[in-house]
Amino acid sequence: MSVLITNIAELTTNQQERDAIPHSPATRPDGFAAIADAALLIEHGRVAWAGPASRAPAADEIVDAGGRAVLPGFVDSHAHLVFAGERGAEFAARMAGQPYRAGGIRSTVAATRAATDDQLRANLRRLAAEMLSQGITTFECKSGYGLTADDEERSVAIAAEVTPEVTYLGAHVVPPEFDGDPAGYVDLVCGAMLDACAPHARWVDVFCEQGAFSRDEAAAVLAAGMAAGLQPRVHANQLTAGPGVQLAVEVGAASADHCSNLTDADVEALAASATVATLLPGVEFSTRHPYPDARRLLEAGATVALATDCNPGSCFTSSMPLCIALAVREMHMTTQEAVWAATAGGARALRRTDVGHLGVGARADLVMIEGPSHAYLAYRPGVPLVAGVWRAGERLA
Ligand code: NIG
Ligand code: FE
Repeated sequence: MSVLITNIAELTTNQQERDAIPHSPATRPDGFAAIADAALLIEHGRVAWAGPASRAPAADEIVDAGGRAVLPGFVDSHAHLVFAGERGAEFAARMAGQPYRAGGIRSTVAATRAATDDQLRANLRRLAAEMLSQGITTFECKSGYGLTADDEERSVAIAAEVTPEVTYLGAHVVPPEFDGDPAGYVDLVCGAMLDACAPHARWVDVFCEQGAFSRDEAAAVLAAGMAAGLQPRVHANQLTAGPGVQLAVEVGAASADHCSNLTDADVEALAASATVATLLPGVEFSTRHPYPDARRLLEAGATVALATDCNPGSCFTSSMPLCIALAVREMHMTTQEAVWAATAGGARALRRTDVGHLGVGARADLVMIEGPSHAYLAYRPGVPLVAGVWRAGERLA
């Protein structure tokens, strides 16, 4: 069964190889590429062909995109979706002048511990559906609101029901029962809790920040996770220009996330490494902090991804289009850079080659938007533009 989507005003492929995609007019910046007046053929859940509509092959079924734009499904490489409760009052207080502190995480920990598995599962599935309806076809999901061996284990196990990109974040904050004994908590995170969680996870993450975990503690957590077969990623330099980015680069992390406070040495280290700088502008929007300096990273040659960081505290959005609009308007990324970062950049941050682009052989994860070009995602902020979503060739929205 083959499906041809035709009458696509602009097909963002992120695929530079001219052989794979004939006549692809690659546009600056490097990486973003789109085809005007295009068609795309899906077979067996994968992209079988993409190119000018005038050369489209025959297919069993035709879908008329009606002159809309089609892009790779968004790849959200950073989200915290296993939790209970909400923190709307904390947000309102922040907007009335209270500062954001890492310690707010503890209130979600209390609610999460008190929730049943089914409550956590239902909340997670609701958020995953929300993401899908907004074009996110791949997402990463962290634990980190359980912070006991049992609560972290059920968090990663429930996350693994909905995504293969599961991250063990036992080192989110030190929970109250370990007040005064952070070393004892790090031992648990590196010991029994890790043993319980590693079978369900692909990644290990740590919040390396004042009020969370120091460089040495974070290094111990990452080393233990890696020894257990997990791959590292780091919450780095969110609130202060701390050691997180350097640590992420040293351990070969797939991604250093937040990157809101960087020294020149941090920027150089990222640019010289395979560690993706993942920017989360929804957090700065929702905490009223200064946005990360995306231009500095891009101009230095770092690989930049955009992700939602959907979580109940610092940023409760599941909207990648909002993140794209913020990246363009507030962080001076071009529309092409922002869309690349939310698709191919996210895929790199998850070390995935099958998603984030629409080259031949890619998983047929697509988002169709109400508008003729990718630029509409920033040009029409706040408007529900998603007109269709396919995952592995199946239309889901
Ligand atoms: O990515 N930085 C640490 N963790 C989350 C915030 C979690 C919370 O406030 O509940 C973040 O912003
Ligand atoms: Fe986060």
